[in-house]
Amino acid sequence: MANETVKPEFWEKSFIENQEMWGFEPSKSAVLTKDFFVEKSVKNILIPGIGYGRNAQIFRDNEITVTGIEISKTAIEMAEKHYGTDMTIYHGSVTDMPFDQNKYDGIFCYALIHLLNSSERKKLIADCYNQLADNGYMVFTAISKEAPTYGQGKFISQDRYEIHDGVNMFFYDRESVRAEFGVAGLFEIAEVTENFPFFLIKCRKAG
Ligand SMILES: C[S@@+](CC[C@H](N)C(=O)[O-])C[C@H]1O[C@@H](n2cnc3c(N)ncnc32)[C@H](O)[C@@H]1O
Repeated sequence: MANETVKPEFWEKSFIENQEMWGFEPSKSAVLTKDFFVEKSVKNILIPGIGYGRNAQIFRDNEITVTGIEISKTAIEMAEKHYGTDMTIYHGSVTDMPFDQNKYDGIFCYALIHLLNSSERKKLIADCYNQLADNGYMVFTAISKEAPTYGQGKFISQDRYEIHDGVNMFFYDRESVRAEFGVAGLFEIAEVTENFPFFLIKCRKAG
């Protein structure tokens, strides 16, 4: 599905040109979330925007089954090459969730939600929450207004800017995290520095 915010051609081109552009090490957020999921005995997770899988392997190494969703076919082929073909990755946009009727004990969504517009963000949070099993956890990372890029590029709407090549980004603060995730069992907002300052947002679905 192509629309104002979903940019399959941008991601496809990025992966063709830059290949494994974030290396093979998992992000700090993935390591922290792995520890959290292991502590909570999470056994199967969904990763929307899984890329070429660098954030997936650490969960699989800890006996957690991973299912992914990814918009770039090239990224999916790279994931298969590096991590094998025994991981289900749905090819499509998260805006078209759900891709299956499974319930997951955990969802990890890294650096994706801030690429969407307001109604798409709302739908992603609701779709993820709907696919959580009772007592399941979802962890999102999202860029913060503390990022030096905040306010750069073309203004689109409040806290949302065109960063490059038609890619728009919404920059969060604690208030907007609470406003968007408050309806989905939000219980913790932490901060983590990746290549940019991010929020690590944890939600739980009550049983
Ligand atoms: C900023 S990257 C996230 C980082 C990546 N998961 C990693 O390993 O660090 C965003 C990822 O989500 C994918 N993506 C972007 N928009 C998407 C959408 N609407 N639906 C599904 N995947 C999407 C991109 O192709 C890319 O793999």
